[in-house]
Amino acid sequence: MVAKIDVNKVELVWPGKYNEDGTLKEVPRVHLPFQVIETVNESRATREAAKKPENLSLFDVYEGKEGDTFEEGWRNKLIWGDNLLVMGSLLEKFAGKIDLIYIDPPFATGADFSFKTPIGEFGGKVLKDQSIIEEKAYRDTWGKGLGSYVPMMWERLGVMKDLLSSQGTIAVHVDWRVGYLIKAMLDELFGIDALINEIIWYYTGAGASPERFSRRHDNIYWYANGSAWFFDPDPLRTDYAEATKERFSHHIGNVRGGHDFGVQFLNPKGKHPDDVVKVSIEAPSANERTGYATQKPLALLKKLVAGLAPEGGLVADFFVGSGTTLKACELTGRRWIGCDLGRWAIHTTRKRLLGIEGAKPFEVLNLGKYERKYWAGVAFGDQKSDDQLTIYEYLAFILKLYGAQPLSGTQHLHGKKGKAMVHVGAVDAPVTIDEVNAAIEECLAVNQSELHVLGWEWEMGMSPYIVQEAKHRGIKLLLLTIPREVMEHQAVDNGDIKFFELAHVEVDIKQLSERKVQVELTDFAFPYADLIPQDVHDKITKWSDYVDYWAIDWDFRNDTFMQGWVAYRTRKERTLSLISDSHTYDAHKTVNVMIKVVDIFGNDTSQVFPVEV
Ligand SMILES: C[S@@+](CC[C@H](N)C(=O)[O-])C[C@H]1O[C@@H](n2cnc3c(N)ncnc32)[C@H](O)[C@@H]1O
Repeated sequence: MVAKIDVNKVELVWPGKYNEDGTLKEVPRVHLPFQVIETVNESRATREAAKKPENLSLFDVYEGKEGDTFEEGWRNKLIWGDNLLVMGSLLEKFAGKIDLIYIDPPFATGADFSFKTPIGEFGGKVLKDQSIIEEKAYRDTWGKGLGSYVPMMWERLGVMKDLLSSQGTIAVHVDWRVGYLIKAMLDELFGIDALINEIIWYYTGAGASPERFSRRHDNIYWYANGSAWFFDPDPLRTDYAEATKERFSHHIGNVRGGHDFGVQFLNPKGKHPDDVVKVSIEAPSANERTGYATQKPLALLKKLVAGLAPEGGLVADFFVGSGTTLKACELTGRRWIGCDLGRWAIHTTRKRLLGIEGAKPFEVLNLGKYERKYWAGVAFGDQKSDDQLTIYEYLAFILKLYGAQPLSGTQHLHGKKGKAMVHVGAVDAPVTIDEVNAAIEECLAVNQSELHVLGWEWEMGMSPYIVQEAKHRGIKLLLLTIPREVMEHQAVDNGDIKFFELAHVEVDIKQLSERKVQVELTDFAFPYADLIPQDVHDKITKWSDYVDYWAIDWDFRNDTFMQGWVAYRTRKERTLSLISDSHTYDAHKTVNVMIKVVDIFGNDTSQVFPVEV
């Protein structure tokens, strides 16, 4: 049925904007708890510079009790998840608290954006194709082109408004294709008079079409949430033109109304900024380049955050990509919150931040099982269906993605793929050792010898021992992680879902002297080498080529990973140290040393090693 809408102003309308009775559809604000998955008290660059002992403290579920300054315990926040749920969940603590929101959302072009990651040490001088794998960083469409782009942005812009302080502003970076739509939505949400500037980012570059003007600008719509806002022109000032400088170098007769105003001077800080900001795109060879296709220049973001947000103020970017906004905040003394749903985005951003000397403490959070449970409820449940039906549909969906057939009449075996039995872990809990054992028992009972277990998360200490144990019992066991992309329509529709077999790590923890240890990474078993193109694969000579990053928590307490040491490859620095710095404990005790490895596909493998020091 078509809604009866009383159209009495100019507005953008799309299917689903209004309820059937003509009232504006409310966007539900979903609040879910955050989990802190990693805490960084100082960046690698700082640690390298100071080599001082780090100050450990612990969190698990994010409590939101810290103050607004680093002295009051504030930590910057990098959040992995869909920004609609993330922002809804931030409202409790941050409604009315954010000084500037800058976003650079996908443009609804329907394109897929890739991420180029060099492998091992080959990348160093020349990035040859044979040493690069290309993965999808994200998919720039919401399925139905503008029909889904508009509602998706509308829902999100509305929550962003609630997060802004009364003096806060929002800068939305778009291109010529969707600028008019974004402007119409911002006009409706903030008011037509709330537009402070339409900032044009103008860049030069090579390449031209004989058929049209070169496309060399993006639009940044800058809106105020209230009647006053922060603006500091100084970071945005530019040089005066030579002719102006020359003219002002001597007395310019400035006579108005018969009065001579005398000698005039140019502002020594430069010319007041125009709404056209000229900044070059990051050169392809620049060290700043991360391999992230839609990365924006750091120089542009530094100008924007310094000019549009006060020092010490809170800046958020909910489509953070490679983390340019967050780096700009670090370099200009603003606090930040960043969010992205992509694995590459979070990993790239984390590495970028770790490379900044003096970077402030930050934490990596997600909505973990809460987000997944919410997704399953929306995707497979409705008010009418009971929990059992939702679970059944969930299982059927995952089995289909895995290419398996559902099975009936078995309790722990949900499906069958070729000769293998398949067990699917619950959406909201880690797969436990008991659960795998129960599935193994059932396999034995029905005379099957191969079992694939699919899970979102795993009980600590499960792999690789359980695989060896299963082998003794005559079962070939594979543990495969269900990727986050399963929750993204586009990834599912494009067939971009890869189930990664659980990798495992081996280390040698050396006792150097009393209470002093050092870790050597001695092996990383990377089970999905067949996902790498053959020509790249042929170049790989050692297991460590698969490792992009590894980190140590010297005293893991079954909650948040506290990064105590880290090594990783960057575009410029391709060698990876496999031996950590030493760490001295303050007392003799038994500790759990946790090792986290991120491989070239951006997957995390974490393992705990108990040590007596
Ligand atoms: C154009 S890129 C941002 C690039 C960034 N400005 C930079 O300099 O690297 C857009 C990002 O939005 C992310 N994204 C898209 N939809 C999202 C959503 N619903 N929630 C969170 N992030 C999303 C994509 O994964 C992608 O990394």
